[in-house]
Amino acid sequence: MSRLRTIKNASDLIKNHPLIFKQEELIKRKKINFYLEIGCGKGHFIVKQANNNHDNVYIGVDKSSTIIYKAIKKIEKQNLVLTNLHFINCDIKKIVDIFKHKIFTKIFINFCDPWPKKRHEKRRLTSLPFLLLYKKILKKKGLVEFKTDNDLLYSFTLNVLQKNKFKIVYFTDNLYKNLNNKFNRDNVSTEYEEKFIKKNKNINKIIWHY
Ligand SMILES: C[S@@+](CC[C@H](N)C(=O)[O-])C[C@H]1O[C@@H](n2cnc3c(N)ncnc32)[C@H](O)[C@@H]1O
Repeated sequence: MSRLRTIKNASDLIKNHPLIFKQEELIKRKKINFYLEIGCGKGHFIVKQANNNHDNVYIGVDKSSTIIYKAIKKIEKQNLVLTNLHFINCDIKKIVDIFKHKIFTKIFINFCDPWPKKRHEKRRLTSLPFLLLYKKILKKKGLVEFKTDNDLLYSFTLNVLQKNKFKIVYFTDNLYKNLNNKFNRDNVSTEYEEKFIKKNKNINKIIWHY
């Protein structure tokens, strides 16, 4: 995957943009379903979701201000007006400082970094401390949907879920061979997913709740 050139003042450029999440949204939109994508990248997936489902609110989180800046610029270039989409530029570890209760109907984790070295296991976004963090902001019976090209991260995640008795609702190591399955029928592809599909890489998916 190509390297991204850092935009030094990206945080300043985005901070007052209407697409950046503000706490008022929570008051304004009390009865609406909130969806979260962790590590949303340039917004390929979350923009499609928001555009297809105007009754829900979508929030994309990414720790890179350059990436969020690029996502915003892409939306502006397409002249898209999406009042149900917001971005947060932070590390997902900080999400509980922003959302202090169980607000999300669904959380998406798409193609997060696999951190293949054993000594980096704790950095994987599906290691236990992260899974417990998501539980704090996910509604009761809310779902987490996880997709990855990385077969080892897929096995690792299944293992953590099983060991901790979280309820696995669905799993597959080949999403595109199972597109007729009810859990995959409405699959929305991400930027990374499209790159991996072109290389004929199998895509793994797991859905769970707590
Ligand atoms: C491999 S990209 C995948 C982007 C997108 N989800 C897709 O599937 O095309 C992973 C993204 O996650 C972001 N990321 C990694 N760790 C994160 C963290 N702890 N908190 C928030 N974002 C994170 C990175 O900045 C990067 O944009």
